[in-house]
Amino acid sequence: MIGRPLVRLESVGSTQDITFELAERGAAEGTTVLARYQQTGRGRAGRKWESVPGDALMFSIVLRPSFSINRLGLLSLLAGDAIAGALNELYTFTPAVKWPNDVLVDGEKVSGVLTQTRIRGTAPVIAVLGIGINVNSDQKNLPSGASSVRSILGHHVDPEPLFRTVLTGLEQRYRNLQVGDVSGWLERIDQHLWLKGEDVTLHDAERLRSGRLLGVDDTGALHLQTEEGPVRIVSGELVRGPRKGAS
Ligand code: BTN
Repeated sequence: MIGRPLVRLESVGSTQDITFELAERGAAEGTTVLARYQQTGRGRAGRKWESVPGDALMFSIVLRPSFSINRLGLLSLLAGDAIAGALNELYTFTPAVKWPNDVLVDGEKVSGVLTQTRIRGTAPVIAVLGIGINVNSDQKNLPSGASSVRSILGHHVDPEPLFRTVLTGLEQRYRNLQVGDVSGWLERIDQHLWLKGEDVTLHDAERLRSGRLLGVDDTGALHLQTEEGPVRIVSGELVRGPRKGAS
């Protein structure tokens, strides 16, 4: 059950490390570590995730997926959809999911997801799902392009209902994923996918690719219609608009 047991900590390096260690030592699926402050919080692609103590919800969850590694990309999207659903339910926001791992409100990042895995053969043995949500962050402490629930609403909010609603949403969606029934939330993601139908560029380690964003498939991969035809993409950084030098 996601969120049980729940370990609440004041200050940690990164909840990802603590949760991974617990998982390696046999912690049950669903074990969740929540911290008020992270000294070395991290995001995707080696970026930092920084927050003033108590301003953000920062937590990591032990998962033991039973599906094959080619569907691991769905975990970040699943989390994005659960976070977007909770923000809509509690505050009537209409968030967009930015492939592969962000939740945006009015084009600004309110939440990010980091999934780290240990794989044996073709099966993921451990996946640690890390979630950061800017809840009460002051706009002046956020990087450009980011926002918080408080900034949008104009007042402080109790993070606890948001935390609980996200956990419930994750539990439902993860159960669906474990039994291979993802069509419901994948369709919703597709409807709320940031820049769907628009011209975008994908940066990955090797190249830039520009094209029309078509959607995501049932493995979590992104599809682009490029000048050379349809392309399936499993990792990279998405930006609006075409770029010079992209193919
Ligand atoms: C991203 O935006 O690239 C992902 C950000 C993920 C941040 C969360 S906060 C809880 C967990 N612990 C970390 O060090 N990172 C994730």
